Amino acid sequence: MRLKRTILTSDDIQARVKELADQINRDYKDIENPLVLVGVLKGSFIYMADLCRYLTIPHVVDFMAVSSYSHSSNATKASGNVRIIMDCRENQQDRDVLIVEDILDSGHTLDYLIKNFKARYTKSVKTTVLVRKKTDRTYPVNIDYLGFEIPDVWVVGYGLDYAEKYRTLPYIAEMGE
Ligand code: IMP
Ligand code: MG
Repeated sequence: MRLKRTILTSDDIQARVKELADQINRDYKDIENPLVLVGVLKGSFIYMADLCRYLTIPHVVDFMAVSSYSHSSNATKASGNVRIIMDCRENQQDRDVLIVEDILDSGHTLDYLIKNFKARYTKSVKTTVLVRKKTDRTYPVNIDYLGFEIPDVWVVGYGLDYAEKYRTLPYIAEMGE
């Protein structure tokens, strides 16, 4: 396997992350308690690092890890099968939560997380996703702050991996044969 082509340059990504942060700063400008940013490991760690450094509103950074079996070919696909491997450390009760995701493919992971956080008596739950694949597999999941729409191909870089490789590329590229 090798990299086929660049889909988003580092400059594209940085400019857009700054725009999303500006929008988040405006939307939460009157927030009472710090916004709880919850990054979904591992893929979101670089997006989180850049996004939170552009935030001027009070916020805390937290992470969780999930495993997802949404790519299995069997009939359970429709419901997805997401499991929390490592939970957050911050208490979310009565807090405003922003889930930070790298990529939306089927949408199962995010759909599960939104429902899970709403059940924690949070004050509000919103989502930001850096890239969404254009596919008809995708669940209708609400994304409040979306970075980019990309074609339905396997992408790596800026936190995203192929078998744990390429995560630290500063740009996003399509994997080739
Ligand atoms: P979903 O639950 O199908 O939306 O899948 C979400 C998870 O699958 C993401 O959080 C990623 O970890 C992983 N994923 C999906 N597509 C890609 C890709 O193109 N590159 C790297 N990881 C991906
Ligand atoms: Mg992810």
